[in-house]
Amino acid sequence: MNIVNDKVTDYIYGLYRPLSDELADLRAEGERRYVPIILRDSERLLISLIEMNRPERILEIGTAIGYSAAVFATAARQAKVVTIEIDPLYAADARANLAGFDNVTLIEGDAARVMRDMANDEESEKFDLIFIDAAKSHYMEFWKAALGVVKKGGVIVCDNILMQAKTVDSSYDERGRFETNIKYMREFIEHISDCEEATTSILPVGDGMSISVIK
Ligand SMILES: C[S@@+](CC[C@H](N)C(=O)[O-])C[C@H]1O[C@@H](n2cnc3c(N)ncnc32)[C@H](O)[C@@H]1O
Repeated sequence: MNIVNDKVTDYIYGLYRPLSDELADLRAEGERRYVPIILRDSERLLISLIEMNRPERILEIGTAIGYSAAVFATAARQAKVVTIEIDPLYAADARANLAGFDNVTLIEGDAARVMRDMANDEESEKFDLIFIDAAKSHYMEFWKAALGVVKKGGVIVCDNILMQAKTVDSSYDERGRFETNIKYMREFIEHISDCEEATTSILPVGDGMSISVIK
């Protein structure tokens, strides 16, 4: 279910403007193929964060077909965008869709492992903005690995944390199929809300987003 009133969402979506015709086409392709790309209001919030913070280095966990990476690369022409995707078929699509951007690097592999390798590599530069948008049951692992590659004062944004309100109330999980995901996501949200490394806000935007500023 939608985590906010449908009328509110329809109104906000009516105000949505894509950053370019190319992005509008890529969003249409993603939606046509049922690829779980970022929702319109989440996209606009990320663009605002980019304009506010002017990040030089952005890291994305979960590329799919490259839609949000293309948004980042368009909104932050000055930035270097690194995006990590585990699924080779999605990675191939993303490579094609991102070919026109010279400020994006796609890494194929498990994001937690890639981030741990980056953290152990003294030559690897840290990131100003990290966007976590991948397997929900692994958010804690992604978060811990991300702490090793984010700059002090940097920001970690996590998407889909309210899981269509199932995180808030298990009765929305009618067949009990998401019990494990719900348990892990609740533990994760409590962890980032209480942890000493960051100041976190939980927002009912899109499917629920957290914004954590790293101390
Ligand atoms: C919600 S989609 C990403 C959508 C994309 N951020 C966008 O908005 O255009 C999540 C993606 O994360 C990928 N993924 C899942 N687990 C992963 C992992 N451990 N490392 C890297 N990617 C992962 C999935 O294959 C999937 O393509």
